Order: sequence, then structure tokens, then C-alpha cells
Amino acid sequence: MFKRILPITLFFVCVLTLSTLAGQADDKKQRAGNEPGKVAQSKKKSRSNRKARSISASLGKDLYKQYQCYDCHSIGGKGCENGFRLDNEGSKRTKAFIKEHLVDPDKHFDKHPDAFGTDLNLMPPQDLESWEIDSLVEYLYSLK
Ligand code: HEC
Repeated sequence: MFKRILPITLFFVCVLTLSTLAGQADDKKQRAGNEPGKVAQSKKKSRSNRKARSISASLGKDLYKQYQCYDCHSIGGKGCENGFRLDNEGSKRTKAFIKEHLVDPDKHFDKHPDAFGTDLNLMPPQDLESWEIDSLVEYLYSLK
């Protein structure tokens, strides 16, 4: 039992620390702009208005950084120390598997309840455009 709870606890500690840091940065922004609502709104808008770019692993790598996937993941020891490792993703998973997870983590988790070593899905929906998903898949699949 302890063996199962430990990674989940460590994971939450990691996410909590990072979200506290992110919260502090947001607070600073809000104080500077003095319009709290506007910060959240403009962030959302810039996501959905981004122009489609051609699909590639290097774009995927940029998007991985841009969307701060490393808050919960690690690659080559970089990122969330106790997070879910994405090293060798291309040797472990198919492109279709990675893609399904990015499209709808909840649904995908339910489809493969034994694939992740945890009892519940901890990855929130990522709100990604299809060209972003395809580039992230290329990048993660290239990690062999
Ligand atoms: C809040 C934490 C969190 C964020 C942010 C997050 N993930 Fe995840 N992700 C997880 C967790 C935890 C898992 C393990 C399975 C689950 O709980 O869904 C996972 C699973 C995955 C998987 C399946 C890996 C496998 O082999 O089983 C992929 C691929 C993935 N994430 C990619 C991404 C990408 C790309 C981003 C950024 C756009 C991202 N994740 C953002 C927490 C997160």
C-alpha cells in the first residue's frame, strides 16, 4: 500500500511547489497590471489564437517547454524530480498511445487502468490544438 501512495504523494508535493511558485509569479503580474481578470484572459486567448505551424519534433520540444509539461514530467533528469518520467517514451509507447493521452488524459487513463502505475489520472486536460499534439507526439516518440 505504502509503495503505491509514496509516488503519488511525492508527485503532489512537486506539483504543489511548482504551482505555488507559479502563483507567486502570477500575483506579481497581477499587481503590476492591477487587472487580475485580464491576465488569465489574455493567457487563454493567446493559446487559441496561435497560428498553426508545420509538424515536427523540434516544434514539439519547444511546445513541451512552452506549456511547462516539465512541471509534472521529467526527461533526462530535468523537470519535476518526482514527476512522471517521459524518458524513452518512443521505446515504451506507440505514437497512437501518446496521442490519445494528449487528446484526453482522463479517457485514455480509463482505457488503460494498469498502464501508469497509479490508481487515478493526475494529468489535467491540456487544451492543445491538433498540430500541437502531433508535434508533441513526434518529439516524445523520438525519445528512444
Ligand atoms: C499536472 C501535471 C501534469 C502536466 C501539467 C502534464 N502532465 Fe502528462 N502526465 C501526468 C501524469 C501524472 C501522468 C501519468 C498518467 C496519468 O496520471 O494520466 C502523465 C502522463 C503523460 C503521458 C503518458 C506517458 C506514458 O508513457 O504513460 C504523456 C505522453 C504525457 N503525460 C505528456 C504530457 C505533455 C506533452 C504535457 C504538456 C503539454 C503534459 N503531459 C502535462 C501529469 C501531467
